[in-house]
Order: sequence, then C-alpha cells, then structure tokens
Amino acid sequence: MQNKDSIKNTLFIGLGLCLVCAAVISFIAVGLKQLQKQNIIIDQQKKIVAAANLESFYGSVSNAYNSIEEIVIDLDTGNFTDLSPEEYDLSKELQDTSKYISLSSSEDIATIKVRENFSKVFLEYRDGDLNTVILPVRGYGLWGILYGYLAISNDLNTIVGLEFYEHKETPGLGAEIDNPAWKALWNGKKLFDEEGNLLIKVIKGKVTVNEANSNYKVDGLSGATLTSNGVTNLLAFWLGELGYLKFLSNLKEEVSNV
Ligand SMILES: Cc1cc2nc3c(=O)[nH]c(=O)nc-3n(C[C@H](O)[C@H](O)[C@H](O)COP(=O)(O)O)c2cc1C
Repeated sequence: MQNKDSIKNTLFIGLGLCLVCAAVISFIAVGLKQLQKQNIIIDQQKKIVAAANLESFYGSVSNAYNSIEEIVIDLDTGNFTDLSPEEYDLSKELQDTSKYISLSSSEDIATIKVRENFSKVFLEYRDGDLNTVILPVRGYGLWGILYGYLAISNDLNTIVGLEFYEHKETPGLGAEIDNPAWKALWNGKKLFDEEGNLLIKVIKGKVTVNEANSNYKVDGLSGATLTSNGVTNLLAFWLGELGYLKFLSNLKEEVSNV
C-alpha cells in the first residue's frame, strides 16, 4: 500500500491544490473583467451627468444619461463625424499612431504627450435646443494624469461643472479636486473674455468677490498648488486651438443660426 505521507504524495497534493486555486482565480478574474469594464463606464456616465448637473432635472442618473447625445468629433476641423460613439475608445485611439498627433513641448501645456484626432463629446438638448456641452479633458497633475469632464452651458462660455473620474493625486491635498465644496466653485465661472481670450484659471489662495476677473478664477487647493496648476493647464490645452476651440466656435455659429 502507498504511504500517504510520502514526499511524492505531498508534492502531488500540493501541486494539485495550486493548479486548482490558480484555475479558480483566473476564472474569477476573467469573469469579473467584463463587470469591471461595465462599472468604469457607469462611473464615467455618473461623472458626465454630475458635471452637467443633470440628475435633479431628469430624476436619476440613467434618465439624465439617456437624454445625452454622444457624438464623435474631428478635433482638427471641429466638425461632427459619422464615426460610431459606441465603438469609440480613447485608449485604443491612443495606441494607433495614425489616430493621434504627438505634441511638441510648446504645444503640450497639459503634459499629455499625444492628442487624439477624434474625441467623443456629449450634448444635452432640451426641447430640441442645445442646453449643455460636456467635453472630456485630461492633463498631468502632480502624480499622474487627471481625467475628467468639463460641462459648459449653451452660451459656450459659462461653466456648469468640472468632474474628474480618474487621478493619482494625494488624499487631502491634490485629491481635493473631488471635494464637493471645491467642485461647486466652478459653476457659473466664465471661460473666455469679450475678445475671446481664455482667462479661466485656478489661482493660489482664495478668490475675493471684488478682485478683477473674479468670474474667471477658482480658489486654489491649499497645499496642492501643483495639482491646481495641472487643472489650469489642462483647461488651457483643451479649450485652445489643439483642443475644442474650433468645435466650440462651430457650435456657437450653429446655435446663433437657430
Ligand atoms: C507625500 C506628499 C504628497 C503630496 N501630494 C500633492 C498633491 O497631490 N498635489 C499637490 O499639488 N501637491 C502635493 N504635495 C505638495 C507639493 O510637493 C507642493 O509642496 C505643493 O503642491 C505646493 O503647494 P502650496 O504652494 O499650496 O503649498 C505633496 C507633498 C508630499 C510630501
């Protein structure tokens, strides 16, 4: 009869157990991947709705998101395209050299290295009229890229909200970009002055009501000037010539022709 405590038997049982555990873990990991992807998409939809402050009007996040039209635009021309928004995936666009441009150091004010040729934007219409435009934005903070959404009202100059869905900033410092009190400061701020100069920025310290251009300034995050500057820089990039400027001026013309 075989000895149950033999080295051969112990190794056989140990190896068998490892293989079974590895198979179970891989099975769970593969099974959860799809769920994780789905959760990321749902989280982004929540942020889009939150940036545009739509939940209270539509009653729920899903109702609000269903009222939003997803459209893929060409960033170089600022025109709508007929590319499928369902099939658009930023991470895939940034893996294909024919689908992005490399930015020179003078162009790369948001420190993102490359810019996609096409972007998926979000438009909310009420009674057939454009109400809110929501634009994906990103740029380097202190520890990594901040990914978020900027919502602008139909004058294409007033901010409705700014929400980040992914970043690596420090809790209590740069991660205060997620603090509801700080996010509330963006509502009603203006982007461009009468001459079309982009003035919006996060300052160091607090904005006082009577100071010049207070409409274009947001309080800095205390002890987190580097993240604050990252936010200013990403807005400067995405609202500039290489970002959504052409798209916004096309849209402005369209809105004023209605
Ligand atoms: C561990 C550690 C984490 C930090 N995280 C951040 C951060 O997430 N964002 C940021 O702007 N500054 C962060 N800082 C502080 C920066 O190094 C820098 O001092 C600060 O941005 C300057 O802002 P202030 O002029 O408002 O103090 C961190 C510092 C330390 C030591």
